[in-house]
Amino acid sequence: MYSAAELTDILDIRLSKKRFQHSLNVAEEAEKLALHYDYSEPEKAYLAGLMHDICKEIPKDEQLEMVKKSSMSVSDVELVTPPLYHAIAGAWYAEHVLNIHDDDMLNAVRYHTVGRSEMSRLEEIIYLADLISADRTYKDVNKMRKTAYQSIEKAMLEALRFSITDVVAKGSMLPYHTINAYNQYANEKKKEKERAEIQ
Ligand SMILES: [Fe+2]
Ligand SMILES: [Fe+2]
Repeated sequence: MYSAAELTDILDIRLSKKRFQHSLNVAEEAEKLALHYDYSEPEKAYLAGLMHDICKEIPKDEQLEMVKKSSMSVSDVELVTPPLYHAIAGAWYAEHVLNIHDDDMLNAVRYHTVGRSEMSRLEEIIYLADLISADRTYKDVNKMRKTAYQSIEKAMLEALRFSITDVVAKGSMLPYHTINAYNQYANEKKKEKERAEIQ
């Protein structure tokens, strides 16, 4: 396994200054979230955060080559949505070029764009760290930052709702992974509400 310093050097070569800084920010945010939620391996969260966009700036046809070689589940929608390639390609690259064989880390890279149902804690941490990293400036980012440290499930539901609304508003298509993820967190919230009503 690479050390954070070694991986940082690799990213420095592969990414623009802006994306490199974003990757460092996501790594730091992921480590902070990991510590906040007592995740047992905060250093793993840091490394997965560093790596999550490792293939984002290579040509799209090279990304697609890796997507096609991936043994992970890839939806039809992702296959026709180039901005989503980099997550699948990143996981492939981490496994086959960097020789990282930690499934949880690979899944965290793979699903940081679309989410999925039954996400591990590390997957949730990377998904949210990417949304609330220091370089993010969208309208409700501070609200999302606050929610991410209040309840990781609530933050995931908010984030997925935001993402789905945005995709639909643009007239784009939704990968089934994202719908499954949304349904799971919405269902958990519903059950929680029902339990609170019984008490
Ligand atoms: Fe990304
Ligand atoms: Fe990112």
